[in-house]
Amino acid sequence: MTTATPKSKAAKAVKTHKSLTIDVKSADITEIDTPALVVNLFRGVKKPGGATGAVDQALGGLITDLIKDGEIKGGAGETTLIHTLGKIKPSRVLVVGLGPQDKFDSQVVRRVSAEVVRFLRRKGISKATTIAHGAGIGGLDPQASGQAIAEGAHLGLYKFGIYLTKEDNSTNEFEKLTVVEQDKDRAMAIAAGVKLGSTSAQASIIARNMVNEPANHMTPSRMAEAAQKVASEQGLGIEIMDNVHMKEMGMGAFMGVAQGTNEPAKLIILRYDGDPANPENNLGLIGKGITFDTGGISLKPPGGMEAMKGDMAGGASVIAAMQIIGQNKPKINVLAVIAATENMPGASAQRPGDVVRAMNGKTIEVINTDAEGRLVLADALCYAREQGITRLVDVATLTGAMVTTLGKACTGVMGNDDTLVQQIIDAGKKTGEKFWELPMFDEYKDLIKSDVADMKNTGGRQAGSITAALLLAEFVDGAAWVHLDIAGTSTSDRASGYLVKGATGVPVRTLAQLATDLAEAGAPKKSKSKTKAK
Ligand code: BES
Ligand code: MN
Ligand code: ZN
Repeated sequence: MTTATPKSKAAKAVKTHKSLTIDVKSADITEIDTPALVVNLFRGVKKPGGATGAVDQALGGLITDLIKDGEIKGGAGETTLIHTLGKIKPSRVLVVGLGPQDKFDSQVVRRVSAEVVRFLRRKGISKATTIAHGAGIGGLDPQASGQAIAEGAHLGLYKFGIYLTKEDNSTNEFEKLTVVEQDKDRAMAIAAGVKLGSTSAQASIIARNMVNEPANHMTPSRMAEAAQKVASEQGLGIEIMDNVHMKEMGMGAFMGVAQGTNEPAKLIILRYDGDPANPENNLGLIGKGITFDTGGISLKPPGGMEAMKGDMAGGASVIAAMQIIGQNKPKINVLAVIAATENMPGASAQRPGDVVRAMNGKTIEVINTDAEGRLVLADALCYAREQGITRLVDVATLTGAMVTTLGKACTGVMGNDDTLVQQIIDAGKKTGEKFWELPMFDEYKDLIKSDVADMKNTGGRQAGSITAALLLAEFVDGAAWVHLDIAGTSTSDRASGYLVKGATGVPVRTLAQLATDLAEAGAPKKSKSKTKAK
């Protein structure tokens, strides 16, 4: 028997909010007919130059006066709305602070762009025109500026409201942002950036939606449907494996978790062949897709358990990243493998003390059924290796210990290959998603030694995130591998910058950036020199 997962009626009855359009125009900013013109200012600037200077002049030095009065300081995200009273074409000017110039980068633009559109939405203003933040004295190239503006605006306006049956009249929708740049070539570069940024933000939103969906809707089957949609839109290969097939394949670790629920488990496989002539030029993206984690027989306490609807964030990120990869078409082969199931304490659930055998033959003693993520990932990693993948990145809301260690500011990274670890961290510097490496010293390995099996699935209270990663390392069979623990970063508890409360979409954009960076670096050298000793 399978639990019914009806398509939501609420989702259909309520109008989904209009999506934002961003266009790029080449024009003189003081001559644009717009409800709001957005200009910017670095902190500490006494007399604005560039586009902001031109507007200041047209307004008779009003911005300079407000700086002198201390009303405008230029702190990052500071917003000052000025009514122009017919002095220039735009009816309002919004001055946004960029913060100190030495701390300025594309991440500031993402944040500022989000704060601006949310500010305008609160004011009931639905259209605005902006200059390309940072493309002047900020030193960003125009394309990077356009991309960051688009990412910030789309991600910052995001709301998950499909189950609210009453219309939210407190805010209007923000519908249209126009970026102006006088120079035609620079305008073209900005437009290219806006396109890239919109693609990546919309993919992050796919992941956010999947994570925010309650578990009675976002079942493993629904995850498979979401992957199917990405595959059809992007022309990717797709295969969905069911329980019977997975048992045949010997995925005993994954199936041990899946046996406690009536909801069919799915192994979701997406394939992008960006370099078919060079199979060694590959990347495997592996995602934990626990659509609800009760803990199983080692049941979690009730307080806050509802957050465990988001225990499929790794899988959702991998599916969403494939959407960007399919669109941007980097020259690399990418295989995505998502292990999706519920972790439930059903009558046939696995018990503490059970021993399971993964696809590679290794055995695991299940000490705690709540340490289920590493079990499903073990088989997903084996599967990717069997498919010939030699460079692996897994993404998982794996341990509560990760939230204790690094909080919500950055994702924990562990791995067996310094180059790949650094490539993830570097990709994150470009996307604004932060990563921090934790050690994988051999000393920690003792913690997961078992008397009855090759290893046990928990290492006790010490170094919880590291022992989880050390178990995963047993299933990568010599491949270069990195593990991303997004237990903290996959959700946010408040709106800040381009994040809103709920799912963040981390690390979708970084996974796609990594694929691009690896494609540009070319296929890895055959000699596996950089792989750390076991
Ligand atoms: N999904 C949880 C980890 C988690 C906790 C993610 C909080 C996001 C927020 C994972 O399956 C889990 O339950 N881990 C256990 C492992 C323990 C039993 C060794 C944990 O962290 O408590
Ligand atoms: Mn768990
Ligand atoms: Zn879990």
